[in-house]
Amino acid sequence: MFTAPASEALRYQSGFGNQFSSEAVPGGLPVGQNSPQRHPLGLYAEQFSGTAFTVPRAEARRTWLYRIQPSAAHPQYQRLTRQITGQQQGPITPNRLRWNAFDVPTEPTDFIDGLIALASTSAADQAEGVSVYVYAANRSMQRAFFNADGEWLIVPQQGRLRIVTELGLLDIEPQEIAVMPRGLKFSVQLLDEMARGYICENHGCALRLPDLGPIGSNGLANPRDFQAPVAHFENSEQPTELVQKFLGELWSAPLDHTPFDVVAWHGNNVPYKYDLRLFNTLGTVSYDHPDPSIFTVLTSPGAVHGQANVDFVIFPPRWMVAENTFRPPWFHRNLMNEFMGLIDGAYDAKAEGFMPGGVSLHNCMSAHGPDNATAEKAMAADLKPHKIEQTMAFMFETGKVLRPSRHALECPQLQSDYDACWKGIARTFKPFDTDSQQ
Ligand SMILES: [Fe+2]
Repeated sequence: MFTAPASEALRYQSGFGNQFSSEAVPGGLPVGQNSPQRHPLGLYAEQFSGTAFTVPRAEARRTWLYRIQPSAAHPQYQRLTRQITGQQQGPITPNRLRWNAFDVPTEPTDFIDGLIALASTSAADQAEGVSVYVYAANRSMQRAFFNADGEWLIVPQQGRLRIVTELGLLDIEPQEIAVMPRGLKFSVQLLDEMARGYICENHGCALRLPDLGPIGSNGLANPRDFQAPVAHFENSEQPTELVQKFLGELWSAPLDHTPFDVVAWHGNNVPYKYDLRLFNTLGTVSYDHPDPSIFTVLTSPGAVHGQANVDFVIFPPRWMVAENTFRPPWFHRNLMNEFMGLIDGAYDAKAEGFMPGGVSLHNCMSAHGPDNATAEKAMAADLKPHKIEQTMAFMFETGKVLRPSRHALECPQLQSDYDACWKGIARTFKPFDTDSQQ
């Protein structure tokens, strides 16, 4: 089901936010208009809008689809018995939290059944905030899915995925990401025995590239490195289950055809992928280091100017050259709320305890930073240019507090001793008057 010949289907169009177009059959795209009275190939025209019609032109996201059956051709949805793990919020806690990597299930589990909701800023019916999930699956989806609650940023940590979407195919592997627009139908196929990773569900404005300000016209994630699929369709009347997530609940409807029947499309409300290894990492070449916003890949603007609904930030391999500088991320307390994950290697602020597949959550004004071992080593270091290699950590940083789910607070992966990594910090203060007398 949903298989495809790789060579033709796995082509991509480069760019970010462009008006893309693609037709799998010549003549699939109408000439000169969006919705002709009769499509020359007998297809149905359907508009797929990701923004209100009347938003400023630069904000507008919509795509015209030319498909064999319109999406409206479905019966009533029924609520599924099996819902997403962790949708119930847990008790409030201001504590710093960290989790070990989540296990891959031994029972047959697809991408949807393998979701665990870890934390959320607000209900899915609010047009802002984020929800954060981890996923772990051991088999491909035999069904199609769309999420009415927000856009999905998928961050694989283990295992390659083939994401069959209405607009074409995207293959991604760890160190790459994919973004699924709100409402886009897709099915996740596993290209390896198992898959594990993270998802940021963005309820707010669609993710976009950050402005670069004084950095100039190049740098960070470059627009040409983002890739959208080309049109690929199936012409099949095979019954297909279509699942949707609506206000956090899963509902299902049986289709009498495949939903992946879009022969041609044009627009900018599209899924896309990006290789994090292509990120043009910038940093200091003198002293201190910039705020981590310098590592922003994508951002969803919030209501307060300059305060993101969510920033997707990465900590990739990079040279450290700052002189007379405490080089790890400094001790800090922030307005923003930080959900972190580790895709590969080690993170430079933690000596141990934060492993690939793990998670940490530092909410508003929680004090954190390098653990004891890292801080002592950094202060004693003989500073020379040094390259941090084989690492890829990331952060979903949001302006609203992330409330952990009850499941997240009760699961065995939650570390009970996280605070201990800052216990017993050495008192190194030596007042000058007593120091000089010694
Ligand atoms: Fe932090």
